[in-house]
Amino acid sequence: MGDYTNMSGYYDLIMTSGYYDYDKIVDSLVEHLPFSNVLEIGCGTGLILETLAKRQPKVSLTGIDLTQAMLAIAQQRLQSHKQVQLQNQNVTQLHLNQAYDLAFSYGGVWYFVMDGDKEPFLVSHIAQEEPNRQGLAKVAEHVKSGGQLLLGVQGPHHDYASPISNGMMYSQKIEPSEHGFTKHYFLADGDKTLMAQTIQYRTYSFAQALALLKGFGFTYQAFTGDKPQFLTFHKS
Ligand SMILES: C[S@@+](CC[C@H](N)C(=O)[O-])C[C@H]1O[C@@H](n2cnc3c(N)ncnc32)[C@H](O)[C@@H]1O
Repeated sequence: MGDYTNMSGYYDLIMTSGYYDYDKIVDSLVEHLPFSNVLEIGCGTGLILETLAKRQPKVSLTGIDLTQAMLAIAQQRLQSHKQVQLQNQNVTQLHLNQAYDLAFSYGGVWYFVMDGDKEPFLVSHIAQEEPNRQGLAKVAEHVKSGGQLLLGVQGPHHDYASPISNGMMYSQKIEPSEHGFTKHYFLADGDKTLMAQTIQYRTYSFAQALALLKGFGFTYQAFTGDKPQFLTFHKS
């Protein structure tokens, strides 16, 4: 499973060095207003929830994540935002006492990769087939009929090494695997490796992904214009 414990202490530093653009992500979420409650699946250290909470102080926000070390940082970050609830849960066993107008995942659990004109494909942090189905069934139970599921869009993954804002070197290496790929993440300070993390991802072709999601009541809504931040699915 996509456990982020090793990366947790360095996550914010890497992400806010330009890996993700949180303002742009939240710009795209608020385009889906009106909503009164929102669930983030795989909220990590809470960077999206913080930006969203500041911009939508009346909306009730819930974040779930499998990795307690990531959530501990989110708890710290969000303690003054009483509208935000955080829960240490695996999406495959998701159990919350409410259904949401909007659920989303960005870089966490499920996301789409888009590479120019090529067909997008779905990436899952869950490496096995059956738990992916369990997770989507649980998400479906937690999205209101008429509500929406948004899955983040990222560019293609490739091997690279690049310095982050404090001069440390972030690098990643990708290897194909039977049902997807394996991604190795590293952070080094000079010769010293500070962080190493390996995650196994499962991938689905676009057609497989749409069929999978449709099986849980999520119908794809085609986008227009440039590469979006999220693909949108309507819950029947
Ligand atoms: C790349 S981080 C994204 C965090 C956050 N959405 C952001 O944009 O900064 C992926 C997160 O998904 C979480 N995750 C992976 N598999 C999960 C699962 N099965 N259930 C819940 N969270 C999961 C990881 O623990 C990690 O914190």
